[in-house]
Amino acid sequence: MERTLIIVKPEGVQRGLTGQVLARFEAKGFKFVGLKLMRITPELAARHYAEHAAKPFYPGLVRHITSSPVVVGVLEGPNVIAVTRAMMGPTKPWEAPAGTIRGDFAVSMGLNIIHGSDGAESAAREIDIFFTPEELVEYPRATDPWIIEG
Ligand code: RTP
Ligand code: MG
Repeated sequence: MERTLIIVKPEGVQRGLTGQVLARFEAKGFKFVGLKLMRITPELAARHYAEHAAKPFYPGLVRHITSSPVVVGVLEGPNVIAVTRAMMGPTKPWEAPAGTIRGDFAVSMGLNIIHGSDGAESAAREIDIFFTPEELVEYPRATDPWIIEG
């Protein structure tokens, strides 16, 4: 089953939106197999945002993501990577449709509430950055047969 990494960014935690954001993924039918609150270190931020290292917004990006705690989760489910990205909406919140997380909760690109892995390779890489294998928990849900077609 596919997995992805999501981060409720510092502004999401500070604004008290963590529960609402996580609730959307739960209500959709995805299963959390990892979840924690943490303060991202500069070292972890550098690994996570390595693809942006050469870009002008990179120093500000690292400063922001390390500025205050985040909630990091691993979600599991069918097509969870693409569906999570669709639920987040586009990077620029002013282009994000109502009904998406960024469309409903954000107005600024650097304060766009949520991160989600953008492909299978980045999902595997990012899950490995933030979670040890022991922190990922596999378990059946009683509702699984009512959510996932056999
Ligand atoms: P994310 O990685 O956070 O899920 O967002 P994304 O894929 O939609 O956007 P990405 O291109 O990976 O950029 C990562 C985050 O950096 C900030 N950003 N600032 N000032 C700028 O030009 C700029 N571009 C991107 C955004 O907060 C974006 O979510
Ligand atoms: Mg990205």
